[in-house]
Amino acid sequence: MNRAVNDDALDVLFRKARTHRKWRAEPVTKQVLMAVYDLMRWGPTTNNTTPARIVFIVSPEAKERLKPHLNKGNVEQTMKAPATAIIAYDLAFFEVMGKLSPNPDARETWSKKTDAELAEAAFRNSSLQGGYFMIAARAVGLDCGPMSGFNNEGVDREFFAGTKIKSNFLCNLGYGDDEGMRPRAGRLAFDEACRIL
Ligand SMILES: Cc1cc2nc3c(=O)[nH]c(=O)nc-3n(C[C@H](O)[C@H](O)[C@H](O)COP(=O)(O)O)c2cc1C
Repeated sequence: MNRAVNDDALDVLFRKARTHRKWRAEPVTKQVLMAVYDLMRWGPTTNNTTPARIVFIVSPEAKERLKPHLNKGNVEQTMKAPATAIIAYDLAFFEVMGKLSPNPDARETWSKKTDAELAEAAFRNSSLQGGYFMIAARAVGLDCGPMSGFNNEGVDREFFAGTKIKSNFLCNLGYGDDEGMRPRAGRLAFDEACRIL
């Protein structure tokens, strides 16, 4: 089969990429974080709404603000990670539709949606963008440690007070230390997860 990217790239992005919980003492630069965003932002979303908003927690002070909201089992891996991304979504994403859509009516159309419709679109598309984020991070040589084990309301109060931005999930970033890595868990086979009709 002809592939659009070579086998080594597929290993980096998927087959050999693992969820990391231990980190080498190598910082993640602002340039690398910007490179991740510069790739992930091209991934598709409904009507190009791109509702994801990201806060990169890097400084020890910002890490301390995040700490009380983490589940116990996620504290050490997060405090030791060179960076932690809060993958969030803006419920008022339609405010910038003028920039994102060639259709002049897009902003108004979205602004008339119900809160439930806006929440569904924002959550669906920011989750997709979170997936693009992790693949982009791997593409620029980072390892990822995604986490949903935290108090969303607490994080929202601490980092997004006075806005319509809500946290979706967290993702530790850095250069993983393979020591003590759990064996990889299995995945469903094609016939278990897919049907061709
Ligand atoms: C949205 C999401 C939430 C997760 N939450 C946690 C978490 O709170 N703590 C944790 O240690 N791992 C968490 N994980 C990591 C998963 O358990 C891990 O990605 C999965 O078992 C596959 O592991 P692998 O990538 O090494 O194959 C989460 C992963 C995702 C994508």
